[in-house]
Amino acid sequence: MAGHEKLHELERRTRLALAGGGPDRVRKQHEAGKLTARERIEFLLDGGSFCELDRLVTHRCRDFGMDEERYPGDGVITGFGTIERRPVYVFAQDFTVLGGSLGEAYARKICKIMDLAQKAGSPVIGLNDSGGARIQEGVLALAGYADIFLRNTLSSGVIPQISAIMGPCAGGAVYSPALTDFIFMVQKSSYMFLTGPDVIKAVTHEETTKEDLGGAATHSEVSGIAHFAYPNDETCLLAIRELLSFLPANNMEDPPTKPTADPHNRADERLDDVVPDDPSQPYDIKDVIRLVVDDGYFFEVQPHHARNLVIGFARLGGRSVGIVANQPLFHAGCLDIEASLKGARFVRFCDAFNLPLVTFEDVPGFLPGVKQELGGIIKHGAKLLYAYAEATVPKLTVITRKAYGGAYCVMSSKHLRTDLNFAYPTAEIAVMGAQGAVNILYRKEISGADDPAQARAELIAAYEAKLASPYAAAEMGFVDEVILPRLTRQRLIAGLAVLANKQDRNPSRKHGNLPL
Ligand code: HXC
Repeated sequence: MAGHEKLHELERRTRLALAGGGPDRVRKQHEAGKLTARERIEFLLDGGSFCELDRLVTHRCRDFGMDEERYPGDGVITGFGTIERRPVYVFAQDFTVLGGSLGEAYARKICKIMDLAQKAGSPVIGLNDSGGARIQEGVLALAGYADIFLRNTLSSGVIPQISAIMGPCAGGAVYSPALTDFIFMVQKSSYMFLTGPDVIKAVTHEETTKEDLGGAATHSEVSGIAHFAYPNDETCLLAIRELLSFLPANNMEDPPTKPTADPHNRADERLDDVVPDDPSQPYDIKDVIRLVVDDGYFFEVQPHHARNLVIGFARLGGRSVGIVANQPLFHAGCLDIEASLKGARFVRFCDAFNLPLVTFEDVPGFLPGVKQELGGIIKHGAKLLYAYAEATVPKLTVITRKAYGGAYCVMSSKHLRTDLNFAYPTAEIAVMGAQGAVNILYRKEISGADDPAQARAELIAAYEAKLASPYAAAEMGFVDEVILPRLTRQRLIAGLAVLANKQDRNPSRKHGNLPL
């Protein structure tokens, strides 16, 4: 073949690869409101940075007429590029080619970039839009999934792994996203489930729809499987870029810093009035967070799930931090099963990736109830406790109001190696709230009093004055400083600066046994 013919041959093959499953299927993809795999990658990465690998790979399946259905690239686009000039590895499943279904060659392409990403210490982003295991390839498809699952597991805590669900994701295919750190979903056009509505109807006779079973609303509000839900492909991809701006490329790096014009010593007097005088009156802990962090910018994770615990990323003095906060607006900020799981996973993520943890605490305790006990709140609450206890990143806590009972211990208390514990003057640190305590301690005195209501009120006032304050804890050194709320930002930024080189370690072992 002459030189120019060789060039033409490359052009021909490239053209075929770029065509995906052909114009009809591409049109169908667009009509469904979805970008193609290639358009998604272009939108996600810095312009012109994408370098594709394995563009010409094809499958080896000869059965079921598959010889005629051979597409260069085999239905998944893989490679690397940059986001804000930092390297990332990416794969995008191409639904226009054989329904984005995964076969042997396709899986090898994904494994190749996962291996490269782990060796290079860069994040992997997977854009999922697939009919699942390629039926024609049988066990080779299943093997391909398992090869990916292994890599997801071995990369966990080494490099950030991010999944976006942008179409179907069903059957065992859900387990790759489930093993990654964050799942993004697109509203209305994506769904995730192990067994779909038809199988469920046949087995359990329950009637449901794809959307109710595994749509973005279901997973971002109810199951908590998705961390983020966005209305379309573009907003979803932009949010992935935003998330990465808080994260280091791997577990050996510090998170990136972002200069801010927000003064480090800004004292915000509005903070002095956020916590109401009445201890049973709710307030929005996100008001506190926004008044404290750089430029009031808080990137919330799982905003619609287990809303009694708020988690997310922000910056303080330019440094990325993970924020965990009880939310008095929902269930009075109680810890329950869902909140414990949400918090535990986030704390472990931050610890794995060197993100300091800042905890805002206002928690009346664990949620009482038969459902909670039977549902295993003991083991689930223990997960959050375990996560905080094993975390060795800088840990800072601000008790804004209640820190009661076991929840006091769990929420990044001094006893779990938290480095700096602050409390507002409105803090109440005690075994339980005044009402409950007085009823237990003084039952006889109250029932025998001439005016039981008056007696109870006096006992409550006495209890609150003596025990429901930050001062007993401050006297013991369990709270390092009782601060004016307006000083929160200043103290946290100063604390993060002195803890920047913090080193702490856990005993040598194969791994701990997190109460799963
Ligand atoms: C091979 C597949 C495929 C698959 C879809 N296609 N899924 N080919 N293997 N798994 C092909 C279709 O034949 C069709 O080809 C094209 O992709 C588009 O599919 P449509 O059905 O026309 O699209 P749509 O109507 O949008 O429906 C999408 C869908 C449906 C809901 C995903 O295709 C579907 O139910 N697919 C099967 C899903 C499934 O059961 N997968 C196995 C899950 S179990 P043409 O040529 O007509 O365009 C699993 C196990 C993993 O994944 C185990 C890991 C341990």
